[in-house]
Amino acid sequence: MTVLVTGGTGYIGSHTTVELIQKGYEVIIVDNLCNSSESVLDKIAEITGIRPKFYLVDLTEKEPTRKIFEENKIDAVIHFAGLKAVGESCVKPLEYYYNNIASSVVLAEVMAEFGCKKLIFSSSATVYGEPERVPITEDFPLSTTNPYGTTKLMIEKIYTDLAKADAEWNITLLRYFNPIGAHESGLIGENPNGIPNNLMPYIVKVAAGELYQLSVFGNDYPTHDGTGVRDYIHVTDLALGHIAAIEKLNEAGVHIYNLGTGNGYSVLDIVKAFEKSNNIKVPYVITARRPGDIPECLADPSKAERELGWKTKLGLEDMCRSAWNFAQKSLKK
Ligand SMILES: NC(=O)c1ccc[n+]([C@@H]2O[C@H](COP(=O)([O-])OP(=O)(O)OC[C@H]3O[C@@H](n4cnc5c(N)ncnc54)[C@H](O)[C@@H]3O)[C@@H](O)[C@H]2O)c1
Repeated sequence: MTVLVTGGTGYIGSHTTVELIQKGYEVIIVDNLCNSSESVLDKIAEITGIRPKFYLVDLTEKEPTRKIFEENKIDAVIHFAGLKAVGESCVKPLEYYYNNIASSVVLAEVMAEFGCKKLIFSSSATVYGEPERVPITEDFPLSTTNPYGTTKLMIEKIYTDLAKADAEWNITLLRYFNPIGAHESGLIGENPNGIPNNLMPYIVKVAAGELYQLSVFGNDYPTHDGTGVRDYIHVTDLALGHIAAIEKLNEAGVHIYNLGTGNGYSVLDIVKAFEKSNNIKVPYVITARRPGDIPECLADPSKAERELGWKTKLGLEDMCRSAWNFAQKSLKK
C-alpha cells in the first residue's frame, strides 16, 4: 500500500513515516519545507534503511500536486501539512486561512480526480474550544478561540461535507492532544524555528541554556498545583495511532477519534519530570495567565481504543528523556 504523507518532513509526519515504513508501507512525502528541513529524509533513511520519495511542493498549488498523483499510484493520504502556531495565527490570520484551507481543498480535489478517496486528517483538540468539563469525548460541542483552531474546524467541516456528497470517501479526523517527545534514536524530533510556542521545546531550550528561564503562565487555575493541565502524548504513540487508523480505513464516511492518553499533567509536573528524568535544572518563573488558556484539557481516548485497538504505551519519563536525547544528539549539530 502506498501512502502519501503531506507535511512528512515535519515533527509528527516524520515520526509517522518511520512507523509506516517499518510496518511495510511505501511512503511518499510532500512538503514545501516552510517549517522543516529536507535533511529529515536522511534521518528517516538512517532509522529505517529507506529514504522515502520526496516532492518539494506547496499543496496550495494544484498542478504540482496533480503531478504527484500522475507519477504514483497512491492508495491513501495522511494530511499533516499546515501551519500550526496559535499565536502566529492571530497575527497572520489570512496566511493561516489560505495555507491550511486552500491546501486541504486542493489536495482533496486532486485525490478525487485520481480516485484516491482514503484520507486521514490531522485535527486538534483545539476544536473543542473551552470545554465545559473533562475528559473530552468526540461528541463534545465544537468551537474555537483562534484562527489556527478555526482552520482545523473548517477543514473538518469541508471534509465532512465532502463525505456526505460522495459516499466513496473514507475520511478519518484525528484530534491530537499535546504531542511531545522524540524518536528513541534521537535523530528526529521537534525543532521549531525561533522561540518555541510549546512547553516541551521551550523547556529543552532552557535546559540547554539557550533561553534564560521558563515562564509559567498562571498558578491560580483550579488544578492540583494551580498550573494548566494538559494531556501530553508521546509522538511515537501518536504516530502509531495513524497506523491503527490507516489499517481501519475501510468503512466509508467520516470517523473521528481523540488521540491522547487520558492522563493530565500540569506545567509544573512536566518541569519536575524533565528535571528528574534528565538530571538537569529547568529554572522557571510564575507569570500572569495567558489570554485564551484553559485550566485543563484532557482526552477521553476510549473510542480509539475500542474501534482502532490503539492505546498509548509510553509515559511521561519516556517523553522527557526522548525530548532531551534528541536535543543533545541532533539540535547542537
Ligand atoms: N504539534 C502539535 O502540537 C499539534 C497538535 C494538534 C494538531 N497538530 C497538527 O498536526 C499537523 C502536523 O503538525 P507538526 O507538529 O508535525 O507540524 P510541523 O510544522 O512540524 O509539520 C507540518 C509540515 O507541513 C509543511 N507545510 C505547511 N504548509 C504546507 C503547504 N502549503 N504545502 C506543503 N507543505 C506544507 C511544513 O513545512 C511542515 O514540514 C499539523 O496540521 C498541525 O496543525 C499538531
